[in-house]
Amino acid sequence: MAVKIVIDGIRKSFTQGGIALPVVGGVSLDIADGEFVAIVGPSGCGKSTLMRMISGFERPDAGSVRIDGERLTRPGPQGIVISQHGSVFPWLTVQENLMFGLNAGERAQKARLADHYAEMVGLKGFENAYPRELSGGMLKRVEIARALVVKPEILYMDEPFSALDALMNLRMRNELLRILQEERHTVVLITHDVEEALYLADRIMVLSPRPATIQASFRVAQAHPRKLSSPELQQMKDAILAELGLTA
Ligand SMILES: Nc1ncnc2c1ncn2[C@@H]1O[C@H](COP(=O)(O)OP(=O)(O)OP(=O)(O)O)[C@@H](O)[C@H]1O
Ligand SMILES: [Mg+2]
Repeated sequence: MAVKIVIDGIRKSFTQGGIALPVVGGVSLDIADGEFVAIVGPSGCGKSTLMRMISGFERPDAGSVRIDGERLTRPGPQGIVISQHGSVFPWLTVQENLMFGLNAGERAQKARLADHYAEMVGLKGFENAYPRELSGGMLKRVEIARALVVKPEILYMDEPFSALDALMNLRMRNELLRILQEERHTVVLITHDVEEALYLADRIMVLSPRPATIQASFRVAQAHPRKLSSPELQQMKDAILAELGLTA
């Protein structure tokens, strides 16, 4: 597979109270076209900062990010971010939210496309509802549909399911896998849920505490749908938790 994203030695420090706070301490990683990479790490280790650099929203102090060989200096048109904090417009209906990112084409055609994606994430019948009329889980699905409707080559997801309850979390994982089977995207998923990473990703990178560096990496070869209770995945889970310092 061709390499899609090349991350080469990126670093980032912030200044807090006049003191330099190193947040990302040199991360290098190649991500293949169509690959699903999950990045797990302890809270506050620099995951969101790393994601903002990989998606072009933040400039690294050192090192570079290349997408299809081109150096990234600002958010690229080929990627879309689902952030930790929502980004649905409260004054637009579900359909209008989904149509928002679509520039070209007739209104009727855009509306059809929006409805197709609303159906894909299980929101059929709610196209004309406003965000305040939806549950938290439905809102999150609007968020995801809004990202997918523009058919991004790269999907950057920063803890997209962490605000959901356990049941909805499981449903969204499966919906995401189903959508990825229909339309292949390159995915970078930030999560602190090791099982979520094991369930979804082709490769899992474990970050060290701040300043974040890649401490270990795991390849998950199992076909979907995966059984988290399988001995291989249980073993890998233990190994990842041990890397995170969470097992005896
Ligand atoms: N713009 C900023 N200015 C100053 N400090 C920042 C800025 N953004 C992040 N930080 C600091 O960088 C560190 C890492 O933050 P970041 O949001 O990347 O962590 P995270 O791993 O995503 O955390 P969480 O798991 O809680 O989402 C924190 O100590 C935070 O205070
Ligand atoms: Mg974060």
